[in-house]
Amino acid sequence: MSMFQRPRGTRDFSPSEMGKRRQVESQFRLVCERFGFKEIATPTFENLALFTTKSGPSVIDETYAFKDKGGRDIALRPEFTPSVVRMYINEMQKVPKPIKIFCFGNCFRYDEPQKGRYREFYQFNAEIIGGDEVSADAEIITLAVGILEDVTLRNFELRIGYINILRELTKGLPNQQRILQAIDKKDFDKMRELLKADGAPALETKIMELASIRGDDSAIEKAKAIVGDGKDFEYIEAFVKRLKSYGMKDYVLDFGLVRGLDYYTGMVFEIDYPGLGAEKQICGGGSYKLIELFGGEKIFSTGFAMGFDRIVLVLEDQRRQFPEGKVRAYVIPMDDSLREASIEVATSLRKSGIITDMDLSTRTPSKALKYANSINAEYAILLKPELYRENKVTMRNLESGAQEDVTISSLSGILKK
Ligand code: HAM
Repeated sequence: MSMFQRPRGTRDFSPSEMGKRRQVESQFRLVCERFGFKEIATPTFENLALFTTKSGPSVIDETYAFKDKGGRDIALRPEFTPSVVRMYINEMQKVPKPIKIFCFGNCFRYDEPQKGRYREFYQFNAEIIGGDEVSADAEIITLAVGILEDVTLRNFELRIGYINILRELTKGLPNQQRILQAIDKKDFDKMRELLKADGAPALETKIMELASIRGDDSAIEKAKAIVGDGKDFEYIEAFVKRLKSYGMKDYVLDFGLVRGLDYYTGMVFEIDYPGLGAEKQICGGGSYKLIELFGGEKIFSTGFAMGFDRIVLVLEDQRRQFPEGKVRAYVIPMDDSLREASIEVATSLRKSGIITDMDLSTRTPSKALKYANSINAEYAILLKPELYRENKVTMRNLESGAQEDVTISSLSGILKK
């Protein structure tokens, strides 16, 4: 493979792609801030052990891990949650609760690349640490949906489950985690095999029945009928009620929902956009117990991560318009003797905050104008010898062709309007 080829599963982003991505990203940030979340950042690489403790085999197999020059086992982050938990334990345990934080950045998973699946991808991640459990779970889902609504992403599907019920059912089984993984992958043959190996084949029917329950709030009674009432259902009922207070109505309860990561303990949720095909999951999250496991105090935590790249794909698919940042003023000397002067004009426009560009080559004025048109600049600022002597320039609207002569001192004021 040529050294000039990108590694598999990575991408370059052109200016127009970056323009779109930055717009979506800044909308994400604004919604988080509206909900009272604050941004943090963590390192791109961490000690490998941070990710191998509780993320589960699906992530561990996919981790970009290597030894650094000091012989330490290092990994590129496959997700943010363990880093956020580490940072919380190291530096934020004394901060008043609840702590509501978000972060955005690249993550790395060694997986087979395909549409919507990359080896370097971007996550937008939010977590709540502390606070009332029911409220925090309801608020985190409301934030996820709020972000999608804000970027006008339509036709997504929100499924909500409660992993502890399946955990309780399979409690004590040596292969519990693998059984849950099999349920997550809907690989029921594998599940049957593992249940048999663990001496619990009778559980199969119960799990299959439970895992097939999907629907509106009436699903709660159906699930109760299978596994019996208990405090999990008390929680689910309170949580569903709280979701309604947040105005959330469009969700499906899914008692077979298991997440790919192993650390979830309570409410879990996923958001799909079916139009994406195999990689349709655009968001996933739920409540988890990593903090205690990493040596922190016992405290509730819940969060989610959005697949940023997939969301951009969906928005493109839905023909969302992304206004491009335009050059407001393109400065052109109509005579070579005015090149220095045109640099001065451009510099002063830039200093007053106007998006300004100018010819860096020695194009003829007509070629420079053509270029200005081709980049959709709004105005051409033409410097002509006779006008320049009077401290004036010609301002041409490149869309309408209308032009007028204005003094250089008034130019930035006019262009700011
Ligand atoms: P996750 O489900 O592993 O959860 O990832 C979240 C999202 O990242 C997925 O729904 C998907 O959209 C996107 N994603 C994952 N892998 C790729 C990939 N290879 N290429 C493109 N997009 C991808 C987590 O990572 C948890 N940390 C979420 C969380 C936060 N739970 C609690 N707090």
